[in-house]
Amino acid sequence: MAEDLIITTSSDKAAQYQSLVPQVAALLDGEPDLIANLANICAALKEQFKWFWIGFYLVKGNELVLGPFQGPVACTRIAMGKGVCGTAWQQQKTLIVPDVDEFPGHIACSSLSKSEIVLPVFKAGKVVAVLDADSEALAQFDDTDARYLNDIVKLVNFNE
Ligand code: SME
Repeated sequence: MAEDLIITTSSDKAAQYQSLVPQVAALLDGEPDLIANLANICAALKEQFKWFWIGFYLVKGNELVLGPFQGPVACTRIAMGKGVCGTAWQQQKTLIVPDVDEFPGHIACSSLSKSEIVLPVFKAGKVVAVLDADSEALAQFDDTDARYLNDIVKLVNFNE
């Protein structure tokens, strides 16, 4: 297993992901523990992109509960349909929010967060988690992030 991450200094976002995704696949390869894998995904993304916050919320009953993350402390529970995370869960689709102040019901865990992307993670057609990334910059996230972050979450085995 790789213990060091090779960080790409390229300013091209796709190139950064193309370097990172196989390294994440190698980190997860052969490791069945869900929390360990989610934690390493967060660490790898934080190291490469230096976003303000990156983490998972796990579906537990009728709410999302904070899972592994990197960044400042965050809200622990989010109801379905609430905030960007709860809305992505309810609508079962990736939400890219260029300006969080423009998103009705956005949950501000930190006033420093300016833009956000949330992807639902599916297992057998059901949302089992969401991946949430927050940036201090406006309009940080786009379809390139959505595409490659989706590739990354698909590496996770949620069977545990
Ligand atoms: N902003 C999110 C809440 C989670 S934090 O950003 C870490 C939301 O509106 O769902």
